[in-house]
Amino acid sequence: MTPTDAERAAALAALPGAPPPGTSRPVILDCDPGHDDALAILLACASPELDVLAVTTVGGNSGLANTTRNALRVLTLLGRTDVPVAAGSERPLLREPLVQPDFHGESGLDGADLPDAGFAARSEAAVELMASLVRASRMPVTLVPTGPMTNVALFLRAFPSLRDRIGAISLMGGSLGAGNTTASAEFNIWQDPEAAAIVFGAGIPILMAGLDVTHQALVLPGDVDRLDGLGTRTGRVFADLMRFFAIHHRARYGWEGPPIHDAVAVAVLVAPWVVTRRAMRVDVEIDDGLTRGRTVGDEEGRSGRPVNAEVGVELDRARFMDLVIDAVATFA
Ligand code: BDR
Ligand code: CA
Repeated sequence: MTPTDAERAAALAALPGAPPPGTSRPVILDCDPGHDDALAILLACASPELDVLAVTTVGGNSGLANTTRNALRVLTLLGRTDVPVAAGSERPLLREPLVQPDFHGESGLDGADLPDAGFAARSEAAVELMASLVRASRMPVTLVPTGPMTNVALFLRAFPSLRDRIGAISLMGGSLGAGNTTASAEFNIWQDPEAAAIVFGAGIPILMAGLDVTHQALVLPGDVDRLDGLGTRTGRVFADLMRFFAIHHRARYGWEGPPIHDAVAVAVLVAPWVVTRRAMRVDVEIDDGLTRGRTVGDEEGRSGRPVNAEVGVELDRARFMDLVIDAVATFA
């Protein structure tokens, strides 16, 4: 059933860190674009429910130079050169980065004819930009990490007095079930488990879009046709990006289309009714061994530790895809 306006307003107001009714939620996207990160940026920029204060970048799907360049190029395509971009951490807190060019290509965003960046990244580091924006914001800020959580962990450690100014963290990462990088670990958490452990342990309410829900966010061939059918440059670019992103998912998993994981972490802030969530304690395994990087969901509260996350478990794929395609349609 389609939610009524009153039900939509109530669902938005019930989210952690919700702004006063009728105002936009200030967000900072911390990402490693990345095909699905690019759609997350687009969805955030298209949504009046959100006020995108900045995009910060981290090494992950590709090296930091590439992910930063890709963020600038995506924002240039969207005509949002007013959104400040700052580069953050090139590498995880403790370990060497894992490079995995299969899914996103050598550039981190292969497959489409994106414009050159029409503006430059700021000179300050990601954590400095986050701190100045959080300090200046009238309302609590929501962080949306869709890459390894290194920048967010560094921010929380470097600016502890600003922690209470973060209303929520809506992240893509982890899994209650199997991983996609090791049998236990999802890629964003596997890259930097120590950083993820800091984020999950910060005492800030978390909305977790893990593989349990993001593997339902498949862009099917009919959706790509709809993107093409928009007849716009942005529609064509994202159709091409999805075709590229599909290649390795088809070869590796036999899936009909790629999962746009990161867009789910934004969608839940804009249309929470598309993601069914369960509240629980989630902690990150940082020890070496088979389960390093696993997000352990304590659904039955056995540990007695306080609930820290609402974990996405089911997606209304049709509504989610309408939301994403309608968002693409708002750009030329
Ligand atoms: C996550 O890893 C990256 O490849 C995607 O951008 C997403 O953030 C999924 O495991
Ligand atoms: Ca990502």
